[in-house]
Amino acid sequence: MTRRRSAGLAAFVVVALAAATLSLGRSAAADAVPWPANPNWQQYVLGPATPNVTPVAVVSTSGNVTNAGALVTGGSGSAKLTMVSGGPAPVIILDYGKNVGGFPYFTVAAQSGNPVLRASYSEGSQYIGANGDGGGAFNAGDRSRANNYTVRGAGTINHSLIQGGERFQRIALTSPGSVTLSAVGIRFSAYRATANEYQGYFVSSSDELNKIWYAGAYTNQLSMLPPGTGGINQLPLILDGAKRDRNVWIGDIYVEGPTNYVSLGSNGNDYLKQSIRLLGSYQLSSGFVTGCLAPQSPVHTGPLIPGTTACYSTSYSLYFAPDLADYYRATGDLAFVRSQFPVVQRQLGWNASRLNSQGLLVTDTSDGLDWDWYDGNKTGAVTAYNALYYLNLIEAAYLARETGQVDLATQYTNKAAALRTAINANLFNSSTGVYDLSDKVRGTVTQDANAEAVLFGVAPASAVPGILTKLKSTLWGTHGPRPFSGSGYSTLISPFISGIELNARLSTGDTTGGMQLVSDVWGQMVRPGPNYTGTMWENIKPDGSIEKGSTSLAHGWSSAPTSALTRYVLGARPVDAGYATWIVQPQPGSLSWTAGQVPTPHGPLAVKWGRAAGDGFDMDVTAPNGTSGTIAVPASGADTAITVNGTSVWDRGTFSAGAGVTSARSDGSYVYMTVSASGNYRVSVRAGSGEPTPTQRYEAETAPAACQGRIDSNHSGFSGTGFCNADNTVGAYSQFTVNAPAAGTATIGVRFANGGATVRPGNLVVNGATVTAVSFEGTGAWTTWVTKTVTIPVNAGNNTIRFSPTTAEGLPNVDFLEVGA
Ligand code: GCU
Ligand code: CA
Repeated sequence: MTRRRSAGLAAFVVVALAAATLSLGRSAAADAVPWPANPNWQQYVLGPATPNVTPVAVVSTSGNVTNAGALVTGGSGSAKLTMVSGGPAPVIILDYGKNVGGFPYFTVAAQSGNPVLRASYSEGSQYIGANGDGGGAFNAGDRSRANNYTVRGAGTINHSLIQGGERFQRIALTSPGSVTLSAVGIRFSAYRATANEYQGYFVSSSDELNKIWYAGAYTNQLSMLPPGTGGINQLPLILDGAKRDRNVWIGDIYVEGPTNYVSLGSNGNDYLKQSIRLLGSYQLSSGFVTGCLAPQSPVHTGPLIPGTTACYSTSYSLYFAPDLADYYRATGDLAFVRSQFPVVQRQLGWNASRLNSQGLLVTDTSDGLDWDWYDGNKTGAVTAYNALYYLNLIEAAYLARETGQVDLATQYTNKAAALRTAINANLFNSSTGVYDLSDKVRGTVTQDANAEAVLFGVAPASAVPGILTKLKSTLWGTHGPRPFSGSGYSTLISPFISGIELNARLSTGDTTGGMQLVSDVWGQMVRPGPNYTGTMWENIKPDGSIEKGSTSLAHGWSSAPTSALTRYVLGARPVDAGYATWIVQPQPGSLSWTAGQVPTPHGPLAVKWGRAAGDGFDMDVTAPNGTSGTIAVPASGADTAITVNGTSVWDRGTFSAGAGVTSARSDGSYVYMTVSASGNYRVSVRAGSGEPTPTQRYEAETAPAACQGRIDSNHSGFSGTGFCNADNTVGAYSQFTVNAPAAGTATIGVRFANGGATVRPGNLVVNGATVTAVSFEGTGAWTTWVTKTVTIPVNAGNNTIRFSPTTAEGLPNVDFLEVGA
């Protein structure tokens, strides 16, 4: 990006030509789409490009160190650490730029004396001392975050244990001598995904959401253990976190599964399948499913293991059927469901033996733990556990139906209905308007109980808005929700349970609340800071900091936004297993466009959508072979016209079949169109009759428009004769003068291209007053032009509309302004 230019005379030259462009055809404008032609999602992918990962920067050195920069990617020569007896220890602190994990190696070019090399590791920058961050692996990795090596000569030292998550590495000598290092690095041992390994993607007009989506996917990848890694595991498995625990956990899979299904698709599905299978094989004779295992464990064969409960708790055990059902919905792998269904049945048998006289599931001090292990056992009839039991019954009924066991399905459905009635009768507190924590702990506002009751469908629809409002007003803080009101429970923010709340909000239409939650909880993880790791944190203190060094900063259970953004914001979800039927139903919130695809066994289901001028909405859906589905567009229906592939299918409430759309209906918020076949559907939604709203276009290069900068024409795709390339400074502007027939509001569309690396924020100033902030997201290239729509107040007569940048990056290149009539 160049920074300087002089205001040239070119601006005056083009004015004379401008008149010829005023009648630019409307058809050309109609063909334009409100999303970039080739949005660059690949730029957000975090997986390393090479199997050996090397540091990207030297953070600091101390003591006698020379040429530490040799150890950085692209560095040359060797770094030398020297320690004299009684002298200071030489230390180099290296930064890998983001979390990586694997087997450390050190290439020694020379050595003298009897030096001991000590390497230590941390995820967060503040924990990189001589002992590292203290967050060693419980299994399948190094339990220590610091290792000593007696260096005896030239050659490569290969560490035999995995340091599963580290952004920072400290290298020091702890005894006299010298060591010359030509390289250090990590042999990446997790699942290494470049853009090629992503069968699904997500990219939108929000840079922050894009970063969150890929950080979630990468968190999962760092938690994946390919088969045979270091002789540890036979099966592809997914662990809870990168550095710790490095165990397979059934509750974590409830979030990790969907993250993988929407990002890696069939490249990652087996990691979930085998993890579920491994856990299910350790079912006890009571029916209790083991909720955690070391990845070294072989699949258990033979009779059920004697016993009543094992790792970890009743609530975790209840995730088995939901994990299996999610896997099945993504893959359509019915054979695996059949093989695991007996485990589900026995599990439900165990739960049925643990009901109180009200029909509620109870726990005691032997099995009452949950995601918040630090809060201890919750006992009695705990609402969250009963909500999970309800989900388990619903999913078991679904799986029974899919495997042809109709009577069993009916039994489970009836049990679910009875349980729902019992929960609502006994655990909802009408004075607080939310579910109580349990039949023993009344009055506490509880995030998990309520988020789960909403998401799993325990809460009646009429109670949902009140519950969501109460959670927000009682529990939300700047850095995310605390999980419980009052005292007695930890105030650590949980991205795991907040992920359930996120899905609860988005699935019930609270897009605004859901998007705010994403920004509050996960936005802070992708912004620069001491704990930036490119990965999602296990938990967070109320002030946004990290509780302790051993806290995992790459925890798969915190990756919920990845699947939630795909399912609800992009809007692509399976209806029948394996996406044999699907629905695409975007929740745009404040985004101007989103593009992405979700992997299915039939091929990708691809979606692009964007807001068009005049309250319009455009969407492009490409459905894979052998599938059919529902395309839902946000629109009132009564005052909406819709074309599909140019054919009118909906005119203000009246449906006409065509273009593959076989039926349509409206619920006042969406119009749902059923399509019976695969293929491409270009959907265009317009207000009213759909007759193009007459719009007036004002070119940025044509007076009375003014450009504080210069008029350029070097990046193709602009309309008219050029565009305003404003100076890259806060005082620059692109200004239009627009005539309005009457005072009121006007919808304006500004067309721009931002090929720069960052978002370019600005103010929209109408007649001298700032009416709103606008952010001009990167469009990927200076030749990629997109239109952003904003509604503004206008006076009768002439109005000046000015875009004023608020950062030194200045404005994007501005092509024109369009105003609806
Ligand atoms: C490049 C580009 C210009 C753009 C500028 C910027 O120089 O060619 O069209 O205006 O970057 O960063 O603003
Ligand atoms: Ca510029």
